[in-house]
Amino acid sequence: MFDLSEVARELVAKGKGILAADESNSSADQKRLALYGIATGPEMRREFRDLFLEAPEIERYLSGIILFSETLDQKDDEDGLYFPESLKKRGIIPGIKVDEGLEPFPESPEETITKGLIGLTERVLEFKSKHNPGFTKWRAVIKIDGDRLPTTKALVENAKRLAIYAFEVQKAGMVPIVEPEVLLDGNHSRLRAREVITKMMHALVAAMEDQAVDMSAVIIKSSMALSGSESGHKDTPDEVAEDTLGALMEAVPASIPGIVFLSGGQSPDEAVANLAAITKAAHAKHAPWPLTFSYARAFQEEALIAWAGKQENFPVARQAFLKRLKEAVAALQA
Ligand code: 13P
Repeated sequence: MFDLSEVARELVAKGKGILAADESNSSADQKRLALYGIATGPEMRREFRDLFLEAPEIERYLSGIILFSETLDQKDDEDGLYFPESLKKRGIIPGIKVDEGLEPFPESPEETITKGLIGLTERVLEFKSKHNPGFTKWRAVIKIDGDRLPTTKALVENAKRLAIYAFEVQKAGMVPIVEPEVLLDGNHSRLRAREVITKMMHALVAAMEDQAVDMSAVIIKSSMALSGSESGHKDTPDEVAEDTLGALMEAVPASIPGIVFLSGGQSPDEAVANLAAITKAAHAKHAPWPLTFSYARAFQEEALIAWAGKQENFPVARQAFLKRLKEAVAALQA
């Protein structure tokens, strides 16, 4: 019988990580391409994906890549294969984002809940039968504002939706990545971020237990505990490691096969240095789960600047991406 927990373990295999390449069309256009002065639209998004997905030798560093639905039906430049097929051929597990973005939470409209439960079963079954991905992702977003936000209600509602999603995806034969992203935006302290991550993870684990999610076949994607981007405070990697692991070790059971981190708006250097410190501290504290990266922005920034939307810049842009990817993998060896 096909073993889902084996797929989960493969995703967090030693010395490898996950690339998040699942920006929605509007995020890819506005928050990536346009931000770097690059033209937008379906063909430019296809080139944007090709730049990263077809970079040479990424299979040495990546266990999986999370894709957006549009990319599933697009083909790579080199041999005209659909992207998921091209990844599988190189031993990389394709994954699919299955949430449908955010909407205001009616009970606390400054906060958001994630859409996509309506029609989820049909959607995941269709993805599964057409593209046979190994895993999926659902992202919830948690905003901090002093002691006021997040509200417990928003945490609990987001946790519940993540758990329902995880159960449905396991039933369809794929590993769910559950991602409650605690935003870097704001002027909160690192300790406040630690507290919110702990509370969110407690709510998430409780909701998954309630929904009878198989804990051995789910990957948690977490933010690091960081001072807010407007706090004027820069944390040292050791501080980040201490509080990130403190939160996770308090709330995440050993039965979870792995935890991956998002970069969340950290600079590429910070995302690598903090990952290295977390890896080292996890080793020292005997953290029970493998830890690795699942970055988007920290891998993209320099590559997008180098690319500038021009085909002839692909080699140098890919070098910039590969340099960061190798650094992230080196950070796992600490
Ligand atoms: P960042 O690394 O840019 O935070 O993206 C990871 C991700 O998947 C966010 O949903």
